[in-house]
Amino acid sequence: PTPTDHQAENATISQGVVESNHAGFTGTGFVNYDNLAGSSVEFAVMAASAGNATLTFRYANGTTANRPMDITVNGALVSDELAFDSTGAWTNWTTRSITVPVNAGANTIRATATTANGGPNLDRISIG
Ligand code: GCU
Repeated sequence: PTPTDHQAENATISQGVVESNHAGFTGTGFVNYDNLAGSSVEFAVMAASAGNATLTFRYANGTTANRPMDITVNGALVSDELAFDSTGAWTNWTTRSITVPVNAGANTIRATATTANGGPNLDRISIG
Protein backbone atom coordinates (compact mmCIF):
# COMPACT_ATOMS: atom_id res chain seq x y z
CA PRO A 1 0.00 0.00 0.00
CA THR A 2 0.98 3.63 -0.38
CA PRO A 3 2.76 4.80 2.78
CA THR A 4 0.83 7.24 4.92
CA ASP A 5 2.58 10.38 6.14
CA HIS A 6 2.20 11.64 9.67
CA GLN A 7 3.66 15.06 10.40
CA ALA A 8 5.63 15.36 13.63
CA GLU A 9 4.17 18.80 14.30
CA ASN A 10 0.72 17.19 14.57
CA ALA A 11 1.84 14.38 16.87
CA THR A 12 1.92 14.25 20.67
CA ILE A 13 5.11 15.98 21.76
CA SER A 14 6.71 15.55 25.17
CA GLN A 15 9.62 17.88 25.82
CA GLY A 16 9.99 19.36 22.36
CA VAL A 17 8.78 22.31 20.32
CA VAL A 18 7.44 22.82 16.81
CA GLU A 19 9.68 25.04 14.74
CA SER A 20 10.00 26.04 11.07
CA ASN A 21 13.31 27.92 10.96
CA HIS A 22 15.27 25.32 8.95
CA ALA A 23 14.06 24.98 5.34
CA GLY A 24 13.26 21.71 3.66
CA PHE A 25 10.67 20.30 6.04
CA THR A 26 7.28 19.04 4.84
CA GLY A 27 3.97 20.14 6.31
CA THR A 28 4.07 23.25 8.48
CA GLY A 29 7.18 22.55 10.55
CA PHE A 30 9.19 19.99 12.44
CA VAL A 31 9.78 18.96 16.02
CA ASN A 32 12.90 20.19 17.76
CA TYR A 33 13.38 17.72 20.61
CA ASP A 34 14.52 19.28 23.86
CA ASN A 35 18.18 18.50 24.48
CA LEU A 36 17.73 15.80 27.09
CA ALA A 37 17.19 12.06 27.31
CA GLY A 38 13.51 11.12 27.40
CA SER A 39 12.10 13.78 25.09
CA SER A 40 9.64 12.07 22.74
CA VAL A 41 7.17 12.29 19.89
CA GLU A 42 4.24 9.88 19.70
CA PHE A 43 2.16 9.16 16.61
CA ALA A 44 -1.25 7.52 16.31
CA VAL A 45 -1.29 5.48 13.10
CA MET A 46 -3.82 3.14 11.53
CA ALA A 47 -2.86 -0.09 9.79
CA ALA A 48 -5.17 -2.01 7.50
CA SER A 49 -3.89 -5.38 8.62
CA ALA A 50 -1.58 -6.96 11.17
CA GLY A 51 2.00 -7.75 10.14
CA ASN A 52 5.20 -6.02 9.24
CA ALA A 53 5.19 -2.45 7.99
CA THR A 54 7.96 -0.14 6.79
CA LEU A 55 8.38 2.79 9.16
CA THR A 56 10.34 5.71 7.70
CA PHE A 57 11.59 8.71 9.67
CA ARG A 58 12.43 11.98 7.89
CA TYR A 59 14.83 14.00 9.99
CA ALA A 60 17.76 16.42 10.09
CA ASN A 61 20.75 16.40 12.41
CA GLY A 62 23.04 19.37 11.93
CA THR A 63 25.54 18.25 14.51
CA THR A 64 28.36 15.76 13.98
CA ALA A 65 27.08 13.30 16.60
CA ASN A 66 24.51 10.54 16.29
CA ARG A 67 21.19 11.35 18.04
CA PRO A 68 19.87 7.85 18.84
CA MET A 69 16.25 7.21 19.75
CA ASP A 70 14.35 4.24 21.13
CA ILE A 71 11.42 3.29 18.92
CA THR A 72 8.35 1.66 20.43
CA VAL A 73 5.22 0.30 18.80
CA ASN A 74 2.25 -0.09 21.13
CA GLY A 75 4.64 0.21 24.06
CA ALA A 76 7.01 -2.54 22.92
CA LEU A 77 10.60 -1.62 22.10
CA VAL A 78 11.18 -2.47 18.43
CA SER A 79 14.47 -0.61 17.87
CA ASP A 80 16.95 0.07 20.64
CA GLU A 81 18.87 3.31 20.21
CA LEU A 82 18.20 3.56 16.50
CA ALA A 83 20.89 5.79 14.99
CA PHE A 84 19.97 9.19 13.57
CA ASP A 85 23.37 10.14 12.21
CA SER A 86 24.53 13.57 11.17
CA THR A 87 22.99 14.99 8.00
CA GLY A 88 25.62 17.74 7.87
CA ALA A 89 23.27 20.69 8.34
CA TRP A 90 19.88 21.39 9.89
CA THR A 91 18.55 22.10 6.38
CA ASN A 92 19.67 18.70 5.06
CA TRP A 93 16.84 16.22 5.58
CA THR A 94 17.14 12.49 5.07
CA THR A 95 15.15 9.33 5.69
CA ARG A 96 15.84 6.19 7.64
CA SER A 97 13.58 3.15 7.50
CA ILE A 98 13.02 0.12 9.71
CA THR A 99 10.57 -2.75 9.62
CA VAL A 100 8.13 -2.85 12.52
CA PRO A 101 5.23 -5.09 13.55
CA VAL A 102 1.83 -3.44 13.65
CA ASN A 103 -1.65 -4.44 14.74
CA ALA A 104 -4.70 -4.16 12.52
CA GLY A 105 -6.37 -0.87 13.36
CA ALA A 106 -4.90 1.69 15.76
CA ASN A 107 -1.22 1.72 16.71
CA THR A 108 0.98 4.01 18.76
CA ILE A 109 4.51 4.72 17.57
CA ARG A 110 6.85 6.63 19.84
CA ALA A 111 10.41 7.89 19.22
CA THR A 112 12.26 8.78 22.44
CA ALA A 113 15.69 10.41 22.63
CA THR A 114 18.19 8.38 24.61
CA THR A 115 21.02 10.85 25.13
CA ALA A 116 21.40 14.28 26.72
CA ASN A 117 21.54 15.78 23.22
CA GLY A 118 17.88 14.89 22.62
CA GLY A 119 16.60 13.69 19.27
CA PRO A 120 17.22 14.98 15.77
CA ASN A 121 14.82 17.50 14.26
CA LEU A 122 11.94 15.26 13.17
CA ASP A 123 9.88 16.22 10.12
CA ARG A 124 7.52 13.27 9.77
CA ILE A 125 7.12 9.53 9.73
CA SER A 126 5.66 7.43 6.97
CA ILE A 127 4.20 3.99 7.50
CA GLY A 128 3.08 1.47 4.93
C1 GCU B 1 20.07 24.29 17.03
C2 GCU B 1 19.08 24.18 15.87
C3 GCU B 1 17.83 23.42 16.31
C4 GCU B 1 18.23 22.08 16.89
C5 GCU B 1 19.20 22.32 18.05
C6 GCU B 1 19.69 21.01 18.66
O1 GCU B 1 19.53 25.13 18.02
O2 GCU B 1 18.72 25.46 15.42
O3 GCU B 1 16.94 23.24 15.21
O4 GCU B 1 17.11 21.36 17.32
O5 GCU B 1 20.33 23.01 17.60
O6 GCU B 1 20.88 20.84 18.83
O7 GCU B 1 18.87 20.16 19.00
